Amino acid sequence: LQLIIRNLFALNVRVKEQIFIWNNGKALKIFMKKVGKLKMTTKEVEEIKEAVEGEEVSKKTKVKVEKEPELIDLPGIGPAVAAKLENAGVFDMMSLAVMSPAALSDAAGVSSAVARKAIQAARTMLDLGFSDGIAFAKKRANVHYITTGSENLNNLLGGKGIESRSITEAFGAFGSGKTQLSLTLAVNVQLPLERGGAGGKAVFIDTEGTFRPERVKQIAEGVGANPEKVLKNILVARAFNSDHQMLLLEKISEMVKAGEPIKILIIDSLTAHFRAEYAGRGQLADRQQKLNRYMHELMRLAETHNLAVYVTNQVMANPAQMFGDPTTAIGGNIVGHASTYRLYLRRAKQGSRVAKLIDSPNLPDGEAIYYVTSHGLRDKA
Ligand code: GTP
Ligand code: MG
Repeated sequence: LQLIIRNLFALNVRVKEQIFIWNNGKALKIFMKKVGKLKMTTKEVEEIKEAVEGEEVSKKTKVKVEKEPELIDLPGIGPAVAAKLENAGVFDMMSLAVMSPAALSDAAGVSSAVARKAIQAARTMLDLGFSDGIAFAKKRANVHYITTGSENLNNLLGGKGIESRSITEAFGAFGSGKTQLSLTLAVNVQLPLERGGAGGKAVFIDTEGTFRPERVKQIAEGVGANPEKVLKNILVARAFNSDHQMLLLEKISEMVKAGEPIKILIIDSLTAHFRAEYAGRGQLADRQQKLNRYMHELMRLAETHNLAVYVTNQVMANPAQMFGDPTTAIGGNIVGHASTYRLYLRRAKQGSRVAKLIDSPNLPDGEAIYYVTSHGLRDKA
């Protein structure tokens, strides 16, 4: 039975591709009438996944997906063009809305007039441009927060932990707790709203091989959750170099579109590959440019999918600084300016850790004391 289902699934996908290739919309309609609907709903996809993998998809994280406007809702964009765009990595309205007509006409193979019209329509649909303060506040109303496990640290971040639609960066020396906070957040995002979570899944991009399933299980036990199920709701990918790290971001829109209720994107570490690959002084400009592009892409993802983004960053000794802590974050201002919240983490007395908030747009700079415990981050050891 499993084999049959798997083949049917593959066949469906293949037929769909073929149809996209040789039709301009008409054939698809005929096919849909004859065979029924082509596009599977999230529920169907999940059922198939369950059947094929023989696993129960966690009921808790089954969040209703709101219907977003799709590319084919735009004038001049049929299924064939949409398929071409998807191949070019343009999955959602927002990505299209921010393209230039020339880039769109290149990627989609349509005339620049059609491209211009589609972009205009996408911008209107998404309500891009200026909005008054009240409307802006409304747009931010669906922001959610994820608890760090430490009340002190939550309070430093405004009360409820790290915020969606923004990037939180933690930088600090080795052992300061950056990875431990990553793992804690990957677990806590799965908690229901009333317990400081977002009832969703985590995507974990691991560049240093520091993701530890056993550690995740311990932290899950700490919040009274089922360790195996928690682990299943963390989608981990190992990034082998900076290009790969970039590529993985493209997958996220794809997954969200497929109905994965992703609520946090974690990158541990953001800068390690960039730092290693662009080591020389002469390569600094290239590295910064690439990092800049990466940060922008992160922000775009955070905004379009209402994700919380948490990235870790290393520090380097800064010999030019004579007083205070002589460490600076890698990536400097590029990363710093793109991050909405910057935390500087360091070890302190008796195994405690101190987090310092730097340059926040709406919160006072301050410090919080926390501990890394076997159950993740806490106020007390
Ligand atoms: P780098 O990635 O090396 O730059 O460091 P990091 O900031 O990511 O450090 P990380 O978050 O991995 O912190 C490691 C520290 O967390 C260890 O030195 C321990 O002090 C602490 N830690 C890790 N696991 C446990 C645990 O199971 N129990 C307790 N109590 N502490 C732990
Ligand atoms: Mg680490």
